[in-house]
Amino acid sequence: MMKDYKDYSLLNHNTFGIDAKCNRFLEYSSVDEAQKVSEVISNDNLPFLIIGCGSNLLLKSNYKGNVVHSDIRGIVASSVNGENLLRCGSGEVFDDVVAYCVEHGYYGTENLSLIPGEVGASAIQNIGAYGAEAKDIIAKVEAVEISTGNIVEFNNVDCEYKYRQSKFKNEWKDKYLITYVTYKLDNTFKPKLDYGNIRAKLAEKNISEPTAKELRDIIIEIRNAKLPDPKVTGNAGSFFMNPIVGFDKFKELHEKYPNMPYYEVSKTSYKIPAGWMIEQCGWKGKRLGNAGVHEKQALVLINCGGATGQDIIKLCETIRHDVLDKFGIEINPEVNIR
Ligand code: EPU
Repeated sequence: MMKDYKDYSLLNHNTFGIDAKCNRFLEYSSVDEAQKVSEVISNDNLPFLIIGCGSNLLLKSNYKGNVVHSDIRGIVASSVNGENLLRCGSGEVFDDVVAYCVEHGYYGTENLSLIPGEVGASAIQNIGAYGAEAKDIIAKVEAVEISTGNIVEFNNVDCEYKYRQSKFKNEWKDKYLITYVTYKLDNTFKPKLDYGNIRAKLAEKNISEPTAKELRDIIIEIRNAKLPDPKVTGNAGSFFMNPIVGFDKFKELHEKYPNMPYYEVSKTSYKIPAGWMIEQCGWKGKRLGNAGVHEKQALVLINCGGATGQDIIKLCETIRHDVLDKFGIEINPEVNIR
């Protein structure tokens, strides 16, 4: 049944734990209902905000508009022309899909283990971790066009995926309600072990050739050691994106900070870890009012208890200012600030 609540608290719908309300909360659990919700929000003069489980969301204050959430469920496997496909409802928890894959011998999701969030958001945000991205496995996205109620579908190329980017975040912003995402998985296990400390962790456990389940468990262990549990400490994962700079800027920084970590994106562009820069600015483990910087990973801003959206914004702006001052690089939020 479609949910339709007025003057609704979003406290349980954002992992930052911000107690903000919206005028109306609408939840669809079928394509039919997504079409009904589309009609409601198109005919209303108020703005609308489409959310997943709110794990990448910062609410500045009460949201004066309609909030929409998918509760379309189901994970259905099929094999078409020798390809393993998994059609998942946009309201499924993404990590449940990863768990399903690992259990059933569908490969390619292991490194994405424990990323918070739902299936719909995986296709919008191109979520990624430990050398893997959602774009590597997305085959098809089904949606309802909000303005017409038409059912549409897109393939991977249509979505124009890049690092934490897609057409859904740009030209197609707020145009569609995603209903299903189909992932294409491998028949054979080709473990990705080159990112960060995955190999070191495997060595610690004397595992030379991990199974998919062992790799998933290692990723979960690494994440749990670095990232705070939102059930205990409000946060939205990485607060900022890692900036990408050109060769000249990279060279200047590399000479000044020989120990600076970086990833070569291409011969002319380099990704500089924002967490490292924030730590260099002295912010790791520090707080400003009720907002803080996680002690084990400076890219993560936390709610130290009772923080308002404004408290987090104030910390965000102070950090951006300090990073710009010290490194001459502008860093931008990865979280959706609304
Ligand atoms: N670093 C520091 N100090 C810190 C944090 C990081 O020096 O406080 C250094 C690390 O030592 C390492 C480098 O920065 O050399 C990168 O750190 P890490 O591997 O922890 O990853 P990240 O770049 O900070 C990104 C993603 C995470 C993802 C990890 C692992 C973004 C914005 N974030 O973080 O994604 O889990 O890589 O793949 O790309 C998220 O998006 O919410 C998220 C958690």
